[in-house]
Amino acid sequence: MKHGLFISFEGIDGAGKSSHVQALADAFRAQRRSVTVTREPGGTPLAEQLRSLVLNAAMDPLTEALLMFAARRDHLFEVIEPALARGDVVLCDRFTDATFAYQGHGRGFDLAVLAGLESWVQTVPALPAGTLRQPDLTLWFDLAPEVAARRLAGARAPDKFESESVEFFRRVAAGYAQRMAAQPARFERIHADQPLEAVWTDVVDAVRQRGWLA
Ligand code: TMP
Repeated sequence: MKHGLFISFEGIDGAGKSSHVQALADAFRAQRRSVTVTREPGGTPLAEQLRSLVLNAAMDPLTEALLMFAARRDHLFEVIEPALARGDVVLCDRFTDATFAYQGHGRGFDLAVLAGLESWVQTVPALPAGTLRQPDLTLWFDLAPEVAARRLAGARAPDKFESESVEFFRRVAAGYAQRMAAQPARFERIHADQPLEAVWTDVVDAVRQRGWLA
């Protein structure tokens, strides 16, 4: 039986990750893998409701972090864990690194509290005690905040996060860099300031190097 695979896509708003989620799904399906494409916050009816609250309403940073993790818990139990148990490839547009980057580094919220919530929420029955569910691979689309801001300008009406300053996104990017430094084996840094095809080549190479795509 094939093992499930869990791949997350991360980066600041405007980094251009989302178009590659679907392309990677197609690449896995072409090799007869069953794929679940999903996103955070969201991915279940409840978590999508939480998403629209958290992306639009002003709230204090702890409330924001709790809603992100509440959505994640529902999403993990309803979608991600069942898909991994079936042997699916799960492609998730953002996961917990986003909470550390945005709520932790962007908003300046206590990283130790986030680590506590992470261990509560990502403890799942399928894994041995003391092990947390984490992505097998995290593709971090790294792009200078100024470039991302130019890409976002003129796009659809910005949500609460997309309206943040370049300075905020500089802190978010630093947060991703710190997560990658702490867990280098799980991460692949994708240089997102390249033409689309070159970014795609880097995405595929990262997955091939691990032996997951022919
Ligand atoms: P998206 O636009 O990539 O779908 O992401 C939604 C927004 O939510 C994006 O601005 C990042 C933010 N976000 C957080 O602040 N914390 C989180 O834990 C997640 C998953 C997303």
